[in-house]
Amino acid sequence: MKKNDKVSLEEFNTFGVAASTPLFVEVTSSLALQEKLKEDAFKDALILGGGSNVLFVENLSRPVIKISIPGIRIINESEHMAIVSAGAGVVWHDLVMWCIANDLGGIENLSLIPGLVGAAPIQNIGAYGVELSDVFYDAVCINRKTGESRIFSAKDCAFGYRDSAFKNDLKDAYVVTAVRLALTKKNHRLKIDYGNVKETLTQMGVKKPNIGDVAKAVVQIRTRKLPDPKKLGNAGSFFKNPIVAQGESARLLQKYPNMPHYKIDGAFDKIPAGWLIEQAGFKGLKKGKVGMHDKQALVLVNYGTSSGKSLWAHAKLVMEGVEKKFGISLEPEVNLIQ
Ligand code: FAD
Ligand code: EPU
Repeated sequence: MKKNDKVSLEEFNTFGVAASTPLFVEVTSSLALQEKLKEDAFKDALILGGGSNVLFVENLSRPVIKISIPGIRIINESEHMAIVSAGAGVVWHDLVMWCIANDLGGIENLSLIPGLVGAAPIQNIGAYGVELSDVFYDAVCINRKTGESRIFSAKDCAFGYRDSAFKNDLKDAYVVTAVRLALTKKNHRLKIDYGNVKETLTQMGVKKPNIGDVAKAVVQIRTRKLPDPKKLGNAGSFFKNPIVAQGESARLLQKYPNMPHYKIDGAFDKIPAGWLIEQAGFKGLKKGKVGMHDKQALVLVNYGTSSGKSLWAHAKLVMEGVEKKFGISLEPEVNLIQ
């Protein structure tokens, strides 16, 4: 366990913002976490994983507990399924690669999502037609007030699109220490119909894909359009894709017949925020040292500022532009820490 008095968080967030915290501690076990939570100084601490879904708008006045709990193992299995448990501090993509190496199927479409396992249930990570909730078995969590351990089922987590109970009723109430996934051992159910996964597999010359091929295709697609946070600070999609009533999308379609939209159910459509932002003129546009990415307009990019405030100011400008043009309010997907 490391402990410092004042720490710059620059290395601990993928935006590369130079915010600081008065107190920083890294925990490598549930027991160490429980001990820290008992200390008054850490009562209102920010829980941090890989920092790939946070924007530090300003310096923090509260402490930070970084979760580095390791370990991946199979805890139960039948002929067809295995339950894999991963510590909250495991790098998500390492877990995906471990599962593929062990021929366990279900999370290959979630390859290359940055961050750690413990944050995966917080926004129910998703990509290329799969969400964490599709394979989620349960999660081990610590109650921040009592220090008690509790198992959360999928129902308890109330997963939605980029959403869970941990972002709503249970915000800041629990720390995830392990996530357990139910994965297939054979007859893997490949999902290759989303976006250009199938097309990429064909380009790769793969006729009968396995889970490793799907992972490679997803990695290829992601590498093509998403900026690498090690080179350009970002936190992936900055906004959620808005879900609007069908009457509303019908109104917009009259004016913008080419507007992409995806049916959610009989009543709602999802509209890609990237399209709205591009049409509002922000794609690839730099304002000082910030801007929306030139290959993916939904990604807010840090071109060299250390200030979280200027990134948030640009995000608000984009929100205003989209609201003005389309009458749609974009909602940040990234967690604003202010
Ligand atoms: P952090 O940023 O450290 O934390 C995120 C939130 O979770 C914070 O509110 C934090 O307090 C809380 N938290 C973290 N750990 C715990 C814990 N153990 N217990 C309780 N609360 C905790 N996301 C997707 O869903 N799909 C994508 O395709 C995707 N692509 C991305 C691409 C890029 C280039 C980047 C930079 C990000 C992308 N993201 C994507 C967003 C991000 O990778 C995920 O949200 C990821 O789960 C965040 O993990 P983290 O460990 O970095 O969390
Ligand atoms: N589009 C544009 N211009 C752009 C970007 C997108 O017009 O600059 C339109 C296109 O019509 C495109 C559509 O938006 O077909 C969808 O774009 P894309 O496939 O890139 O996906 P997305 O909806 O922008 C979502 C997730 C990503 C996830 C991908 C793949 C959200 C908020 N974002 O992006 O997740 O990786 O789908 O499944 O749901 C993240 O959460 O950080 C993230 C990167």
